[in-house]
Amino acid sequence: MGLLRFLILALFSGSVHAGFVHPGLMHTQADFTRMAQKVSAKASPWIDTYNVLLSNSHSSLSYSPNPQAWAERGSGCADNSFYVMNDAAAAYQLALVWKITGNTSYADKAVSILNGWASTLKGIGCNASTSWDYWLMAGTQGYQFANAAEIMRNYSGFSASNLAAFQSLMRNVWYPICHAVLPFGLNVYANWDLGCIAQIMAIGVLTDNSTMFNEAVTYFKTGAGNGAAQKVAYYIHPGYYGQCQEAGRDQGHNTLDVSHLTVIAQQAWNQGVDLYGYSNNRILAISEHTSKGNLIDNSTNNFYTVPYVQYVYDSWPTEYWQYTFANGSQGLNRPTWGCIYHHYVNVKGLAAPFTGKQLALQTPENGGQGCCSGGYDQLGFESLTCALDPIPSGAAPSGLTAVFLNGKVLLSWWGSAYATSYVVQRGTASGGPYSTTLASGITDPRSYEDSGMSAGTYYYIVRANSTSGPASNQVSITTGNPLIAYYKFDETSGTSASDSSGNGYTATLSGSTSFVSGRINNGVKLDGSSGYVSLPTTLLNQLGDFTIATWVYVSSSSSWQRLFDFGFGTGRYMFFTTHSSNGSAEFVITYNSGGDSTQKLFISNTTQSSLPLNTWTHIAITHFGTQTWLFLNGQIVNVNNYQYLHPYQIPGSTDLPAQYWIGRSQYSGDAYLNGIVDDFRIYAGCLSASSVQSLASMSG
Ligand SMILES: *[C@@H]1O[C@H](CO)[C@@H](O)[C@H](O)[C@H]1NC(C)=O
Ligand SMILES: *[C@@H]1O[C@H](CO)[C@@H](O)[C@H](O)[C@H]1NC(C)=O
Ligand SMILES: *[C@@H]1O[C@H](CO)[C@@H](O)[C@H](O)[C@H]1NC(C)=O
Ligand SMILES: *[C@@H]1O[C@H](CO)[C@@H](O)[C@H](O)[C@H]1NC(C)=O
Ligand SMILES: *[C@@H]1O[C@H](CO)[C@@H](O)[C@H](O)[C@H]1NC(C)=O
Ligand SMILES: *[C@@H]1O[C@H](CO)[C@@H](O)[C@H](O)[C@H]1NC(C)=O
Ligand SMILES: *[C@@H]1O[C@H](CO)[C@@H](O)[C@H](O)[C@H]1NC(C)=O
Ligand SMILES: *[C@@H]1O[C@H](CO)[C@@H](O)[C@H](O)[C@H]1NC(C)=O
Ligand SMILES: *[C@@H]1O[C@H](CO)[C@@H](O)[C@H](O)[C@H]1NC(C)=O
Repeated sequence: MGLLRFLILALFSGSVHAGFVHPGLMHTQADFTRMAQKVSAKASPWIDTYNVLLSNSHSSLSYSPNPQAWAERGSGCADNSFYVMNDAAAAYQLALVWKITGNTSYADKAVSILNGWASTLKGIGCNASTSWDYWLMAGTQGYQFANAAEIMRNYSGFSASNLAAFQSLMRNVWYPICHAVLPFGLNVYANWDLGCIAQIMAIGVLTDNSTMFNEAVTYFKTGAGNGAAQKVAYYIHPGYYGQCQEAGRDQGHNTLDVSHLTVIAQQAWNQGVDLYGYSNNRILAISEHTSKGNLIDNSTNNFYTVPYVQYVYDSWPTEYWQYTFANGSQGLNRPTWGCIYHHYVNVKGLAAPFTGKQLALQTPENGGQGCCSGGYDQLGFESLTCALDPIPSGAAPSGLTAVFLNGKVLLSWWGSAYATSYVVQRGTASGGPYSTTLASGITDPRSYEDSGMSAGTYYYIVRANSTSGPASNQVSITTGNPLIAYYKFDETSGTSASDSSGNGYTATLSGSTSFVSGRINNGVKLDGSSGYVSLPTTLLNQLGDFTIATWVYVSSSSSWQRLFDFGFGTGRYMFFTTHSSNGSAEFVITYNSGGDSTQKLFISNTTQSSLPLNTWTHIAITHFGTQTWLFLNGQIVNVNNYQYLHPYQIPGSTDLPAQYWIGRSQYSGDAYLNGIVDDFRIYAGCLSASSVQSLASMSG
């Protein structure tokens, strides 16, 4: 084909995007081949779940569909979502039976449902009230219908014009609803976003539209709403337990988040995009936390306790405070764990023990019918569609990280599929030997706290099963409250500031800056309109406990000017402002755009709540475990005893690069710092009050 002809085709056919795999949403042709083989061999669990599928009324050749011209969902609406949900489930289930058996009666039935909706449905919404629930339906049932049509797309009885009509329905009626709401990052619960991400991705594949597919992937990576990767996993606890955004709401919604995340990741994986592994397996972190929190611990006959930090759902103008892992609907039997389990365990070789226990409990599982208040929120049957034979042995433990917390070194790692336990070893030289075995027999959580050693640099590995088992990556950390970065700003010219800690974290000056006489030798002067200093963004990677200490000479009382602001986007950051809205200087750390609003420290018990102008002030923030202290000129001026947010969860990603700035805010509208900064220090670990006092008494 000549280039010109190719271009003309690309312009007019609308579907020349090369490379979409078909069928390529939740299941590929290889998956269907495996299902058919396992079912015909009567192998468990496939055959058991297949039998549940066959006996489900939505898989029946006598199923009676009800296409609607106008589909509504929500209180106050003429809610007919029941028909939408049932017919989407039926179309999918009949399509599955056809692919597994080859019996075209099922294919014809599935096609009649799809054709019925394609010729009947004109719109989705809510006429009579302001309920937005139709948005949920557009997302969840949208991806379900698209999955059914994707399976049917090469059936000879689903003609090219049938497929085109159904593609047109998805593109013109379903897609615009999700497309209209996703970009705004509205502060809705995560499921609202996630259903729409799944829908847009599914319609992109169904209609061979890479713009749509990329829209979904990009939103998942960098979106502003609660469905985006960083926000849906609000907090990563030790051992990589990921607290989902809806964990404190109720377990119906929390487990539905796992279901939606699975659809997004599975569909993307089948198109060669790895969202399962994205941002350090964030989805696995959520699945393990959610599955564990919904399981009974046989040793206590009660639900397992999972770690939880309070979450503030900031639905303006109301804030909902969620203090515990919610017990509403706890232990519900959502048929959702099969695809996620088999991907992580039998494709990646990682451990997913509690996801696996949930899956075992639900197998053989049903579809939408029979679970959960709304019903039909997931397609189900995953131990038929996604189950894989066990791999011979797992990957080595991986993702080992070390951070300072509670005065200890906290290690976390990903486990190895089928490993029975883990061994933690320590050495004093890079590459080993790791001659100190700190612990063995670790099962859960996959974390370890090391303490009591003398100041120095230590190297850790974790092994699966035994001291001779496969080893993880090595991680190193230096104890004894070392300086991580130290900017004396004693230069006289140029646009870089050297790091006197020895770690080589050279800072870069931008905008209008100059080196002037400071508190101790020189300092960096920032002009209040363009000048700031950028620090390397790996600085915080190991900081749970930390100390930041600096001298500042403030020349303006502009609101929100930042002494420093370390974060990414306007969702996750920590900053110190010399002048907040009411005039107080304040330290803030948030993972949720300020939603977690107790995480602030004002200057509280002195007469001076804002920073004095045109004089040198020493500011220090120290943090140990869940306590933070704010120091002004060496005196403690406020303490927060429940500050559960730590800097090490702030570093961004390649998609959301972090910005660590002195003198500039993450929010572009805020004032730049007008003043001089000198002797800016970041320490690993929490300095004592007397150490802070001696920093505050230094002068040049
Ligand atoms: C793909 O979808 C986008 C977003 O709706 C649309 O603007 C574009 O025209 C579509 N491309 C094709 C080739 O249909
Ligand atoms: C297809 O399935 C239906 C219902 O089970 C059955 O009656 C029919 O005989 C099957 N057709 C073939 C060709 O096996
Ligand atoms: C809702 O509004 C749409 C668009 O105006 C219309 O087609 C539909 O018939 C209405 N549905 C009901 C139940 O009033
Ligand atoms: C549908 O796709 C499968 C897998 O590629 C193939 O085996 C089958 O022949 C196709 N059917 C039609 C009608 O194209
Ligand atoms: C609890 O015991 C039952 C019965 O032996 C078993 O099926 C289940 O897997 C156990 N649950 C967990 C979480 O280990
Ligand atoms: C469920 O959680 C609520 C709120 O934390 C609590 O008041 C209630 O006692 C819990 N119920 C049970 C059965 O644990
Ligand atoms: C650990 O031991 C279990 C049980 O013997 C075995 O199934 C698994 O493959 C082992 N894992 C590794 C990584 O060697
Ligand atoms: C500013 O607001 C905070 C939080 O409400 C309060 O603690 C602080 O005292 C206030 N400062 C002034 C100067 O009003
Ligand atoms: C402020 O209050 C804290 C906590 O009560 C106390 O430790 C500190 O000494 C007080 N600082 C001043 C300057 O009064």
